[in-house]
Amino acid sequence: MNRFVLKSVMQGLINGRSYSIGNEYVYRAAVVGRSAQLSGQQNGIVFGGFEWRRMMSSEPASVEKAPFEKEDKKESPVTEDKKGKEVLASSYWGISRPKITREDGTDWPWNCFMPWETYRADVSIDLKKHHVPKNFTDKFAYRTVKLLRIPTDIFFQRRYGCRAMMLETVAAVPGMVGGMLLHLRSLRKFQQSGGWIKALLEEAENERMHLMTMVELVKPKWYERLLVLTVQGVFFNAFFVLYLLSPKLAHRIVGYLEEEAIHSYTEYLKDIESGAIQNVPAPAIAIDYWRLPKDATLKDVITVIRADEAHHRDVNHFASDIHFQGKELREAPAPLGYH
Ligand SMILES: [Fe+2]
Ligand SMILES: [Fe+2]
Repeated sequence: MNRFVLKSVMQGLINGRSYSIGNEYVYRAAVVGRSAQLSGQQNGIVFGGFEWRRMMSSEPASVEKAPFEKEDKKESPVTEDKKGKEVLASSYWGISRPKITREDGTDWPWNCFMPWETYRADVSIDLKKHHVPKNFTDKFAYRTVKLLRIPTDIFFQRRYGCRAMMLETVAAVPGMVGGMLLHLRSLRKFQQSGGWIKALLEEAENERMHLMTMVELVKPKWYERLLVLTVQGVFFNAFFVLYLLSPKLAHRIVGYLEEEAIHSYTEYLKDIESGAIQNVPAPAIAIDYWRLPKDATLKDVITVIRADEAHHRDVNHFASDIHFQGKELREAPAPLGYH
């Protein structure tokens, strides 16, 4: 029996698993997850990366500490609570986030995105690029989007802050639906997706960050929240079915929706420049996400969001073109990190 227990423990040590013997735990692997410092360096920025660490009753001496980790072991998960309250999650599962800092050494305040997910938007992108509808599918997509714009214009008129906030709740849906369906397809067909799952999910996340930024500027009223619920219920299901039936039409529609988004944000910028909308300081979340200067304003934020929309336009028209050529998305290089 003792030999069996000893053998199990030895195997556990070799395999890096944890074993429970009575009330004692024996751990080997201390570090789980990935070091993201590399991706930060790839972007030409040295951020403090981190690795999720399994907290142990007794940490082995052999675990190397990453250079950016502080000596203080009393770290606990921190939320973006502005009052500075730390929300301590139970350490029963042994998950805790080490301290992460900005380049200037100040604490990284966000849990919803990490320094290596931030970027500088390419604002030099051609905003006027347009896919000329060539065939029935294109024309149908184009007309559908133009029709959808009519009630949007009537409802919001020139309230561009509110309009942007509401439309971002919709804009973050297609990437998630497309990514999810490609994910399921990859599982069903035992095939790689060629990076397209990630590319579409990146788009969804990028759009969601637009929303997280806009809600810092405009607080939705109760009837707007109700409208979002209704629209999401309808749009998610409609887009899901559409993507199943015709991904080329689905991507084309999104391409044209993005063209409309560029137009809306251009009008938004005009109102900021004319003084109709106050050019308030940029929200803190936007400064960190787009690596904007500390004195950035709303105008800077809308400029980078508009550049993102232009990138989404290109991705979706490109995806639709691939389908039009009778190919699958995985046959063409996925535009990873293109936003
Ligand atoms: Fe957006
Ligand atoms: Fe977009």
